[in-house]
Amino acid sequence: MREQLEQLKSSALQSIEKASSVEQLQEIRISLLGRKGELTAIMKGLGSLTAEERPVVGQVVNKVRDEIEVALRTAIESAQEKVISARLQSERIDISLPGRSQLRGTKHPISLVIEEISSIFAGLGFAVAEGPEIEHDWYNFEALNFPPEHPARDMQDTFFVENNLLLRTHTSPVQIRTMLKQKPPVRIIAPGTVYRCDSDATHSPMFHQIEGLMVDTGVTFGDLKGILTIFTNQLFGQKTGVRLRPSYFPFTEPSAEVDIACVICSGKGCRVCKNTGWLEILGAGMVDPEVYRHVQYDAENISGFAFGMGIERVAMLKYGISDMRLLFENDVRFLRQF
Ligand code: DAH
Repeated sequence: MREQLEQLKSSALQSIEKASSVEQLQEIRISLLGRKGELTAIMKGLGSLTAEERPVVGQVVNKVRDEIEVALRTAIESAQEKVISARLQSERIDISLPGRSQLRGTKHPISLVIEEISSIFAGLGFAVAEGPEIEHDWYNFEALNFPPEHPARDMQDTFFVENNLLLRTHTSPVQIRTMLKQKPPVRIIAPGTVYRCDSDATHSPMFHQIEGLMVDTGVTFGDLKGILTIFTNQLFGQKTGVRLRPSYFPFTEPSAEVDIACVICSGKGCRVCKNTGWLEILGAGMVDPEVYRHVQYDAENISGFAFGMGIERVAMLKYGISDMRLLFENDVRFLRQF
């Protein structure tokens, strides 16, 4: 029996040494120590030995089993190491290679201008108000004192949705919505998207405006000019101030067209200002009593001014953009520059 065990051991150690893969070694383990393995069979056979033989042979069996197990474990470990180092040879991962960075978006120039204008007006005590882009005829025209035959109501300018619903053609309806919601004093700006049926290098059917409205007791035309001067000087960083020219809007009386000294030539005259030295940037005026009537404000005891400005124009002047369509083509090579 002892001899049989010695033989088993040496042939086991031999085949362990010859084995070249983890799988082969596992097979050897099963053939020796598995449920039907050779050594397992011998251990089961111990029962048939005499009481004296059993501990002696048992000891030898255990020793052989331990030796085989140690040999198997060492062989399996080194076979696994070989597999790993072979993979390390063939699959090289360059851990010093920098990762691919995520492309970061930038804010759209229109958003940048809205944010800058809003923060200048925040500093002057103006809150931001909003209104819907699909608007009732009443807020967009009627309450703003547009006569029924006004050209802005025409099919060619206004996108109608149905009956009395339309895409707002300006941000001025937010004046009405704000005054219906709150009593004076009112001090708001309303940035937003507006729509008109118009499209060329300086007109887009979708564009943006910022409305302004200040109503209180004793608000004067001087306040309007003062606020607009502070605002444009901060926005364009110059001291040249503003010029007001008489104009007409149905919802303001008197009304004015507001020019700033040309930001390109500082008023000397150039192509952008068509040699006038001035750039028109907004419409403004004192709120017409007829508007107050529509929102049940007491026109006798309060007064106020309003203004409306095209944001695309401001962005084009600020950043030197020559074609408005560039703003909406969404070419990231263009948009990333701001
Ligand atoms: N809503 C006018 C437009 O789109 C702009 C405007 C002019 C707004 C004068 C005003 C204003 O608030 O007082 O052409």
